[in-house]
Amino acid sequence: MNTSASSRYAPLKNDTFLRACLRLATDYTPVWMMRQAGRFLPEYRATRARAGSFMGLATSTDYATEVTLQPLERFPIDAAILFSDILTVPDAMGLGLSFALGEGPRFASPVRDEAAVARLAVPDMDKLRYVFDAVSSIRLALDGRVPLIGFAGSPWTLACYMVEGAGSDDYRLVKTMLYSRPDLMHQMLQINADAVALYLNCQIEAGAQAVMIFDSWGGVLADGAFQEFSLAYTRRVLSQLHKNFGGARIPSIVFTKGGGLWLDDMADLDCNVLGLDWTVNLTKARIIVGGSKALQGNLDPNVLFAQASQIEAEVIKVLNAFGTPHTGPGSGPTHIFNLGHGISQHTPPEHVAALVQAVHYHSRQMR
Ligand code: CP3
Repeated sequence: MNTSASSRYAPLKNDTFLRACLRLATDYTPVWMMRQAGRFLPEYRATRARAGSFMGLATSTDYATEVTLQPLERFPIDAAILFSDILTVPDAMGLGLSFALGEGPRFASPVRDEAAVARLAVPDMDKLRYVFDAVSSIRLALDGRVPLIGFAGSPWTLACYMVEGAGSDDYRLVKTMLYSRPDLMHQMLQINADAVALYLNCQIEAGAQAVMIFDSWGGVLADGAFQEFSLAYTRRVLSQLHKNFGGARIPSIVFTKGGGLWLDDMADLDCNVLGLDWTVNLTKARIIVGGSKALQGNLDPNVLFAQASQIEAEVIKVLNAFGTPHTGPGSGPTHIFNLGHGISQHTPPEHVAALVQAVHYHSRQMR
């Protein structure tokens, strides 16, 4: 009898990424890229044109499955990431998300005052059913090739978009609320944290084998404010997450862009992996947090505009900065190769092939 969710799906053929998340030895360093399913791939742009819009893609099970698998058809990467967006959660809270072509996201009803905060609540997960259906469909289509990563925005990063109503250069509106009405900001962050935890647990129940929290704007906060308004609520999410599901461990990854100065504060987070941007020295990060967590990162995405020989040289620098990972039985320091932030839409796909090959080849030599 099928009692576990995992038995609905094919056994995993490549568990390198999951093993590295759990600080177990692997034959080579696994690699995947933030925004790997996206505009740098001509096949993504073609599917997006057929779907009509970004949300048209994200809300269709078939399209979301198709674009999630596109980078795997081209490159021997070690993980898939759900095709969706962090802003689906505030959209389900009723803020009215739209994406105009060539522009960033926009909310029709941003949260700017006490009345708007009072209207916020953890949304009915039925409104996000399309995401969980996509997770199950992708997991089936993967047929055990590589694990599937689910994701959400951090409570703080979601609050930035919810208050600003769009991307921002200076975060003036969200920081105005933070400093003038910290009570309102805390109220919103609590709701966001509980919504994100529930959302990630639903993704896990639908088939996500690891989850990642994107704190893309944690790094814009002042020291002190980061710990109080970002990290505390990331902790609140982590404390509610399923650690195991269907008989499998479900690793969690926290990525704070610009968080390098706070690695000591993040060292005791209840997660398995810390994602790092390109400003962080992996040798130092391994000393600060490598005793308890795997590290993910951190090649500057702009390296991918150079020629293959330079990409290879920069990949070797990142691998060497981390150093030889744990080998043999038991657990120890491990590295998951990634970019320090999302891949640029202007990246030539052949350059990504050079990156993946260099990571796999040179990381085998290091063991
Ligand atoms: O391949 C993957 O990584 C999975 C899919 C994914 C998307 N967004 C698809 C997407 C993931 C993990 C995200 C996360 C996300 N979304 C973040 C956190 C990661 C980060 O980059 O810091 C943030 C801040 C967002 C919000 C968001 N979504 C912005 C600011 C934009 C517009 C900017 C841009 O890059 O165009 C989006 C749109 C978006 N989400 C696109 C994709 C592929 C481009 C949309 C398009 O096709 O027009």
